[in-house]
Amino acid sequence: MFSLPSHIFSRILLKMSATASFATNCQPQPLPTIDQEDEQEQHEICMCVLWYGGELGIAYYDTGDCSIYFMADTPDNEDLKLLQKVVDEVLPKYILSSAKQDYSIAKFLSNLGNTMGEHQEGGKPEVVLYPNMDFGLEVSKQRILSRQFPFVPSDMTATEKILYLSSIIPFESPLVVRVLGGLLKFLDRRRVGVELEDSSVNVPILAFKKFVLTDIVHVDQDAYSVLQIFKSEVHPSVYKQASGKKEGLSLYGILNHCRCKWGEKLMRLWLMRPTRNLTELNKRLDVIQFFLLARNHEIVLTLQECLKNIKNVPLILRRMAVSNTKVSDWQALYKTVYSAVCLRDTCRSLPNTIELFQTISQVFTEDLHYIASLISKVVDFEGSISANHFTVRPNVDPTIDEKKRKLMGLSAFLTEVARKELEDLDNRIPSCTVIYIPLIGFLLSIPRLPTMVEMSDFDIEGLDFMFLSEEKLHYRSARTKELDSLLGDLHCEIRDQEILIMDQLQTKILEKSAVLSDVIEYTAHLDVLLSLAVMARENGYIRPCFSHSHMIRIKDGRHPLMELCAKTFFPNSAESTETHGRIKILTGPNSSGKSVYLKQIGIITFMALIGSYVPAAEAEIGAVDGIYTRIHSRESVSLGLSTFMIDLNQVAKAVNNATERSLVLIDEFGKGTNTVDGLSLLAAVLRYWIRQGTQCPHIFVATNFHSLMQLNLLPDSPLLQYLTMDTHQDGDELVFFYRVKEGMSTVSHAANIADLAGMPPKLIARGVEVSELLRNGKPIQHADHSSKEKQLQSCKSLVDKFLSLDLDNPQLDLKEFMSEEVLPSSATILHPIKKA
Ligand SMILES: *[C@@H]1O[C@H](CO)[C@@H](O)[C@H](O)[C@H]1NC(C)=O
Ligand SMILES: *[C@@H]1O[C@H](CO)[C@@H](O)[C@H](O)[C@H]1NC(C)=O
Ligand SMILES: *[C@@H]1O[C@H](CO)[C@@H](O)[C@H](O)[C@H]1NC(C)=O
Repeated sequence: MFSLPSHIFSRILLKMSATASFATNCQPQPLPTIDQEDEQEQHEICMCVLWYGGELGIAYYDTGDCSIYFMADTPDNEDLKLLQKVVDEVLPKYILSSAKQDYSIAKFLSNLGNTMGEHQEGGKPEVVLYPNMDFGLEVSKQRILSRQFPFVPSDMTATEKILYLSSIIPFESPLVVRVLGGLLKFLDRRRVGVELEDSSVNVPILAFKKFVLTDIVHVDQDAYSVLQIFKSEVHPSVYKQASGKKEGLSLYGILNHCRCKWGEKLMRLWLMRPTRNLTELNKRLDVIQFFLLARNHEIVLTLQECLKNIKNVPLILRRMAVSNTKVSDWQALYKTVYSAVCLRDTCRSLPNTIELFQTISQVFTEDLHYIASLISKVVDFEGSISANHFTVRPNVDPTIDEKKRKLMGLSAFLTEVARKELEDLDNRIPSCTVIYIPLIGFLLSIPRLPTMVEMSDFDIEGLDFMFLSEEKLHYRSARTKELDSLLGDLHCEIRDQEILIMDQLQTKILEKSAVLSDVIEYTAHLDVLLSLAVMARENGYIRPCFSHSHMIRIKDGRHPLMELCAKTFFPNSAESTETHGRIKILTGPNSSGKSVYLKQIGIITFMALIGSYVPAAEAEIGAVDGIYTRIHSRESVSLGLSTFMIDLNQVAKAVNNATERSLVLIDEFGKGTNTVDGLSLLAAVLRYWIRQGTQCPHIFVATNFHSLMQLNLLPDSPLLQYLTMDTHQDGDELVFFYRVKEGMSTVSHAANIADLAGMPPKLIARGVEVSELLRNGKPIQHADHSSKEKQLQSCKSLVDKFLSLDLDNPQLDLKEFMSEEVLPSSATILHPIKKA
């Protein structure tokens, strides 16, 4: 076994510092092209939760990037809404908690399987309970402090390490410490993510990351699907992206122009966590605004070019942590680090009034150069690729260099040995070679002579027969044995030494992994914002502004998805202020755009709350804290649930939880029940909200219940505003303008819709006829289509008979004519008659 002289790395580092000025003008080593394997990644999430005295502690480990995410102690009440939100988002495989827990969380955990949607792919999480002492505060603290983390430089003293960890982990938060302690115990016991590795390999933990869930806007799963934020079939998890399925028409689909994987992931996260932290939203908008300036177009292109080369670093770091780094990983990391330096240098040239640029300028430190130089000085990319394993460049380790030189010189030397062997061999043997086979050693290779048929013919005195291959016989001789002991292990030795160097290189890089973590975090940010800027520019979106008052004002808003599909799209406005028009009742014929209008208000508001530009001429959005929807969709039908049940469920949620900051969208409430019940419930709900006065949410209701207005079921209130879809009756044809205007629609225009839907005109005509008769209280006559022709004929013949009557004829018996001729035929014409 070789022990690698530790001076090797110091020597490399020394050389590097001598060339430290290579900064930006330094060109990266040209790379032979091989693509980084796009390995099927399975993220597994292990979550640990504790809930004590109304405070929630959550930490989870993601095997995808080997990071632990934790949430600072946060208040959550008994319904554990926050916990539910995190569980829905990350879909943990395991949820660990203490066996001694409050009733609420015990109930929450036992209900988990039932409350998670049936459409969820991963199945329900496994709940694991450990004894309470595994979550003890002191025990947990010790467990954290005594652990070796790859990102903590090995030369730190114990005190330095504590200081360092305290800057990352809030030791003053007891719940955080306790969930982390429990989680670490679980990870080590289950060997999560390293089940197949050698037992000496620890579960790698490459970073601790804090997440915050305050200021989250409540948007439930239904809203995500009816507003088409994500394609409805795909569960909108940040961590499990359904593989193979193409994202259909969805907001995520059109907004996502991200160049790198972690940008896409962050985009999903933003969509999962719309926020009402206006500082954060404005920061995002500032960046987009900067990118949209025409004079910054070049910069956008440069940044995008760099982003393309930001590879899947967390995956690489994970492989490094278990010492399984591939040749392609070294290349990918090298490329990434160079591109990160390029991003930083570009950001340094940008105005530092924009925080993201300033942050990137600062946190993309010289450690990147350190990593790049280290890789470039040590890894022989060409050699590694041709050998298909990690190969060290010359001048890194003199002993390796010497061994390689020996191997190079070997072929001439072996020819010489072969010549000597040939002299000793039988004259019939024309030639021989000496070859080296790794793990077997040196062998004498002789062509098979025609006389050598049987196994016994292969024996040659003084030689040990080994095997026959490709008509060549292989032997060990005294000389090859001597070569074995002299040189035989050379290959293996070089390999072993190179692996040792690779291990050291990995360790050195992992110690600097903090900078790589930052690179991933902030390039993802940049990527998402560039992506939003591209979308905004291509579609003429504008910057929304936020207001502290509870208002929503959208001028000439468009539906971002519909406007991409429709040839012409008519913009519509909406205004809901603190005291006026907070409840909008929208009537109008079916298919005139009522639902689209509702969804458009919803999606524009949503976009503003993720910090995106929006499709409108102007948009002013108050700090919205929730979006509640009840909009019928095909999905709810296919679930086989009663529509009215869903109606009630969703509207109850809105009634119970919506505040004056919330947006409520209700379409066709009461569709699935009888008119009277639906109508009265809707009226009751609206009256309830009207009574709330200024606490009333922003409500948009689209309904076909015209009686709501006709029967005056709602009181007069400035909070109420009636809207209708503008239409125009052009002869028989109803023309839709898809424009919202003030007023109410009283006619349903059902016939025109039926016509549009392709119903046979006869049927429609009949419908109109019946509806007319009904309205005027007249009896309705059965339509009997099959006998219509006959009826006509009998009518005609009757008329003919009348016409042919000779009234001057005294012989004429009118009585008889009426009873014999007229009555029978008129019966067939008039019969059957039914009273309505
Ligand atoms: C809002 O966001 C800003 C910056 O993004 C952050 O510094 C601040 O702490 C956040 N506020 C709250 C209440 O979370
Ligand atoms: C809102 O109220 C309903 C009760 O109808 C409740 O079940 C639900 O959990 C509440 N919270 C949210 C965020 O919808
Ligand atoms: C509109 O369509 C719905 C079905 O989507 C139907 O229940 C309703 O009666 C229709 N209303 C009118 C006025 O045509």
